[in-house]
Amino acid sequence: MNEHVSSRETKAASTRRRFLGQLGQGAVAGGAAGILHGADCSTAAGASSDGRVKRRRLGTTNLEVSEVGFGGHSWSYKRTPDGSGGYRKLTIDEAVEMIDAAMDMGVNFFDSCTPLDECTVPGEALKRLKRRDEAVISVRPSHKMKGVENDKKEVYKWTEERLKAWQIDHIDLLLLSNVAEVTPQSGYWDMSYSIEALDKLKQQGKIRYTGFGSHFTPKWFFVAFHKFGKYFDCCSMPYNVRHRVAEKVMPAARKVGLGVVTIKPFARGSLLKGRDLEGADADVPRDMVAFVLKNKAVDVCLCGVHSMAQMKTDFSASWAQISQSGYQRLEQIAATPVPHGEHCWLEEGWRYA
Ligand SMILES: NC(=O)c1ccc[n+]([C@@H]2O[C@H](COP(=O)([O-])OP(=O)(O)OC[C@H]3O[C@@H](n4cnc5c(N)ncnc54)[C@H](OP(=O)(O)O)[C@@H]3O)[C@@H](O)[C@H]2O)c1
Repeated sequence: MNEHVSSRETKAASTRRRFLGQLGQGAVAGGAAGILHGADCSTAAGASSDGRVKRRRLGTTNLEVSEVGFGGHSWSYKRTPDGSGGYRKLTIDEAVEMIDAAMDMGVNFFDSCTPLDECTVPGEALKRLKRRDEAVISVRPSHKMKGVENDKKEVYKWTEERLKAWQIDHIDLLLLSNVAEVTPQSGYWDMSYSIEALDKLKQQGKIRYTGFGSHFTPKWFFVAFHKFGKYFDCCSMPYNVRHRVAEKVMPAARKVGLGVVTIKPFARGSLLKGRDLEGADADVPRDMVAFVLKNKAVDVCLCGVHSMAQMKTDFSASWAQISQSGYQRLEQIAATPVPHGEHCWLEEGWRYA
């Protein structure tokens, strides 16, 4: 073993020991309460108490991905107190520290959405850490898949921009995405031109695997699986204790051989608002992620995190287990509608006016 690898392993082991010291090793497993009714938890990840995030194979690809992934919004949203009453984005130095610690815990999946700093910040951090080779990097071209020739240009342009922003020579996973504003009306799941572009990019060695998805109703996922499922490697959709429509979609995805990357375990934080996260609800974020991971159809659960503390809590879901009282609390939260506002579009039956 060379010196570099050996010192990295020692550092990773010490990070894990620190995490376990801070978090405890998870409550004793309790029986599944009503919230799990209908969720497929039969191969819930086994309890592991070594503080290491477990890996799953992404669909039928050769990618071994951490079951918890680093959300791209971590870098683009202003959520860190700036010391003068406002909020700021995380800095590159903070990103370096968080990504290094996350990777020491076994996290290797890094997502990025539309804002460019979701690529530039982790890209620079991985470069400084010299850990790109350990990472699985995912980008999401946000275009509308109109089924027109111009779709190809959009995909090429987006890919080149993202390669540059991440400072990499290939992308591990490219997920065709879409914009929230058109979600319920997204009848234009015509990805035929995009597929042509993706094929060419694969031949050029610029992308390895592909997928699609975002904020869509099940109907359009089923259409896409039927028409295009065989072409792609995975799909992506929101899934959390309250917004569980994905449970209808995931089996169909699996049937056509697609892996599943879930987003929004906290409905972008709305499920955590007003909770006593310093006290009685301290385990709620971790348990929300653990709930997602218990579904055997999920390959990766992406979490948006804005501090080392949030990151440690959320990633510990990989080895912690939900207690009986934890399930009961999740059930209570899941029964409460998300208030009308930014994320109400996740609510079943909700439609844009
Ligand atoms: N177009 C697409 O396909 C698409 C769309 C959405 C998301 N995604 C991907 O999915 C990822 C996850 O989704 P998301 O970031 O929208 O939502 P999310 O993971 O459901 O919520 C993230 C928010 O939850 C809060 N949070 C997380 N851990 C916490 C903790 N331990 N304690 C307290 N609060 C905590 C944070 O809010 P505060 O920072 O405000 O405290 C954070 O911003 C994204 O980052 C992105 O990579 C893709």
